[in-house]
Amino acid sequence: MIRALALITGASSGIGEAYARRLARQGHDLILVARREDRLQELARGMVKQHGVEVEVLPADLAGEEGMSMVEAVIEQERALSMLVHAAGFGTRGHFADIQPKKLQDMVSLHDLAAVRLLRAAIPAMREAGRGDLVIISSMAGFFTMAEYTLYSASKAFLNMLAQGLDAELAGSGLRVQAVCPGLVRTGFMETEEYADFSYDRVPDLAWMEAEEVVDEALAALNRGGPLLFVPGRLNRAFIQALNAPGIGWALRSGLNLLSRKAGNLF
Ligand SMILES: NC(=O)c1ccc[n+]([C@@H]2O[C@H](COP(=O)([O-])OP(=O)(O)OC[C@H]3O[C@@H](n4cnc5c(N)ncnc54)[C@H](OP(=O)(O)O)[C@@H]3O)[C@@H](O)[C@H]2O)c1
Repeated sequence: MIRALALITGASSGIGEAYARRLARQGHDLILVARREDRLQELARGMVKQHGVEVEVLPADLAGEEGMSMVEAVIEQERALSMLVHAAGFGTRGHFADIQPKKLQDMVSLHDLAAVRLLRAAIPAMREAGRGDLVIISSMAGFFTMAEYTLYSASKAFLNMLAQGLDAELAGSGLRVQAVCPGLVRTGFMETEEYADFSYDRVPDLAWMEAEEVVDEALAALNRGGPLLFVPGRLNRAFIQALNAPGIGWALRSGLNLLSRKAGNLF
């Protein structure tokens, strides 16, 4: 029997890793993509041993043309994927005009251009097979922006719009599209140089989710035909609702902006 095959970007850590573990447990074969080959190999060994699935490790820098086209080619040559999860991403801190241009370009390349290229590579075979899941890890930041989050929010808003367009185009094809829009999640995201002075205590405990919770909620939502733009966590959903409510929404957005401008690096 041919097992389902999922390709996951950003699989070496955080949300991507949680997808990999969850899908391996469900019996999917996997293709794991990220830059850190050693972490991917270690993960792959564990999954093969524990779940008897096949795992291919594909080290690639998806912010660059070489990595993007290599993964694209693998997707095109593979037997039809049953699932594509694009979770690779990173955050920046500081004002747009103070961030190195290369970093800004890398963010757009990794979050958006890689999503475009990999989705475009995966869809034709999925369409032919009449099934397939396209999961894009976006962010709550795709619904609003504030000082210090300019490009991050913009890159995630792009993904939300991309998901909506694809969903409209693929209606009736058997393919399912989901943009997962998490709030704050304890992952490697805050373990970079830029977040060196960040402390999790800065934000109340109840605002944080674990990567496994995000993935479990998102997969459950996908399976029950939940919203295309899925926000994991009840509190996060309430926040987004409030943000869109007349009056309160404006006050919330202004408050966030003020806080972020004053405090700098809110998260
Ligand atoms: N954590 C949060 O609070 C939060 C909230 C909302 C949305 N998100 C989104 O969730 C997604 C996953 O982030 P995370 O929180 O799980 O953070 P994470 O633990 O830091 O994971 C990020 C993943 O992206 C990979 N990656 C980074 N740059 C890459 C590149 N140039 N090429 C290929 N892979 C690259 C990393 O692997 P390598 O370093 O090995 O390449 C890692 O596997 C991101 O899109 C992020 O924007 C996170």
